[in-house]
Amino acid sequence: MSTNERKLEAAKAALAHLPESGVVGLGSGSTATLFIQELGKLVAAGRKLAGVPTSEDSRRLAESLGIPLLDDVGPWQIDVCVDGADEVSDDLDVIKGGGGCQTREKIINHASGFNVIIVDDSKLSARLGEKWAVPVEVLRFGENTTRSRLEAFGPATLRLRDGAPWITDSGNVIYDIATGPIDHPAKLDAQMLAIPGVVETGLFVGRANLVLVAGPDGLRQLKKQ
Ligand code: A5P
Repeated sequence: MSTNERKLEAAKAALAHLPESGVVGLGSGSTATLFIQELGKLVAAGRKLAGVPTSEDSRRLAESLGIPLLDDVGPWQIDVCVDGADEVSDDLDVIKGGGGCQTREKIINHASGFNVIIVDDSKLSARLGEKWAVPVEVLRFGENTTRSRLEAFGPATLRLRDGAPWITDSGNVIYDIATGPIDHPAKLDAQMLAIPGVVETGLFVGRANLVLVAGPDGLRQLKKQ
């Protein structure tokens, strides 16, 4: 089974966790894209589900599929959010932001009553930071000062796209902080967020109610004990 097929398996499995009718947080990235496509089929078949997108890409996709969307300001009553991840630890903490969308993703994650993370098994690590740097969204104003403070936690690399700074949906830049394996993700998240100019980190600590992992032995459902 290819990685893409595994992502699709996880995406389809998330459908079982949706309410009969209600509001769904729409994640971002390639795995969430597969989920939104499956959700579009349910809506086309008459299921009364609306979405709140975590990125402009997910918004465009949902609109193209005819999924009704709530406005951008809320307040929202989101029943379930389904999103991908870059890395999932044994404790079911998560690094997100490989697509640069972690700020909206975290806002919607926190506004959601239940959070489902969908991944293929390549995303699993014992500890966060073993495979991924932590993406941090930073205001452009004073960004070199903010960057030097972030470097207390590891080398900081400005994320680029086509040779120019990657600009997020909110007009900010992203620094990827190569922390190495993280012992205390909640503490690191709080330390990074305390730096003026940091908008949001890609550390999602204790925010996954259910992780659906597709691997060679099929689908596994991971929940915090
Ligand atoms: C977007 O910013 C991310 O948080 C994605 O959810 C994450 O990068 C996973 O993306 P893939 O499903 O494409 O691996």
